Amino acid sequence: MKKILVTGGAGYIGSHTIVELLKAGYEVIAIDNFDNSYPSVLENLKKITGQEIPFAEVDIRDKAALKAFVKATPGIDAVIHFAANKAVGESVANPLKYYENNVGGTVNLLEAMQENGIKQIVFSSSCTVYGEATPPVGEDAPIPVAQSPYGNTKQICEEVLKDQCVATDLKVVALRYFNPVGAHESALIGELPIGVPNNLVPFITQTAIGKREVLTVYGDDYPTPDGTCIRDYIHVVDLALAHVAAINYLAEKKNEEAFSVFNLGTGQGNSVLEVIQTFEKVTGVKLNYKIGPRRAGDVVQVYASCDKAMSGLGWKTERSLEECMSSSWKWEQAIAAKGNN
Ligand SMILES: NC(=O)c1ccc[n+]([C@@H]2O[C@H](COP(=O)([O-])OP(=O)(O)OC[C@H]3O[C@@H](n4cnc5c(N)ncnc54)[C@H](O)[C@@H]3O)[C@@H](O)[C@H]2O)c1
Repeated sequence: MKKILVTGGAGYIGSHTIVELLKAGYEVIAIDNFDNSYPSVLENLKKITGQEIPFAEVDIRDKAALKAFVKATPGIDAVIHFAANKAVGESVANPLKYYENNVGGTVNLLEAMQENGIKQIVFSSSCTVYGEATPPVGEDAPIPVAQSPYGNTKQICEEVLKDQCVATDLKVVALRYFNPVGAHESALIGELPIGVPNNLVPFITQTAIGKREVLTVYGDDYPTPDGTCIRDYIHVVDLALAHVAAINYLAEKKNEEAFSVFNLGTGQGNSVLEVIQTFEKVTGVKLNYKIGPRRAGDVVQVYASCDKAMSGLGWKTERSLEECMSSSWKWEQAIAAKGNN
């Protein structure tokens, strides 16, 4: 297996995965519609890898264009499918956008794959499928009714992929990410949240750099050691390496089931205050934060059991929370120095 199509390749996780795929000797072709990314990411990938990234601007909602692109690109052995919208709040306000892009786009992609004999896919799923599960959360934890249209699109896509495995000889690895953070050590690629960030770490770095006045910690009266919510923060480069491991797993035909699912996290939970303290320690920057009321819908604590990914994919995380914080800070400083793109 050599040639990998990466959808959403200009995005946060896709761009880091392209770096690691190329390092591992895979050939990559990326598509994106730049809905939540910039063409400059491709230039920066070239700076990091020393290679031009074969790329086409394709919108996966445009079935005809997507099919024409796949047909005109011979030799694709597998797909890594990142392209999706991912803002939970926006999905509540505009569910049809999410069903059209995340579910409809995936169906279009599967049709294009089927018509062109491409039989392997790695899919970006999410720990949101577990809702309020008791940690450490294993892959066999129950999947409750989704709490948002975004979460529902991930559940539905997993079901669509399973059904397609039954109907055809498709092989799927679904990866359920916990909380991806951090950036490439070069500070040339990272997460570019558009508007006010929903996630803690970009909010921390934006507050530290002065883009935001104050960070609000939503509640310090939860039943956790310091009263703040606990999450499993995984460095995006470790996450990217898990995709290489998933592609290797498919290439080496290690999958016993046509549809395999793995959690990707560190297996360790960190509280909001621990993350803030770690940021302050590694950067020497004092953060302006205040304790506010609880935020509706926040789960108290969630972290992964990663045993299955460790044994099945032969993968484990290697980067610490300190490295997550220092690389995020370096990235925020680089954005400030260059402008947003
Ligand atoms: N970042 C997270 O916290 C997180 C957590 C769990 C799961 N995920 C999933 O991982 C995947 C990647 O997330 P990310 O953080 O890199 O997001 P991102 O927004 O940075 O990357 C997604 C990329 O897909 C592109 N895209 C969106 N719709 C498209 C379309 N119709 N056609 C072509 N390209 C399109 C965007 O322009 C963007 O470059 C998504 O499926 C997301 O749901 C992300």
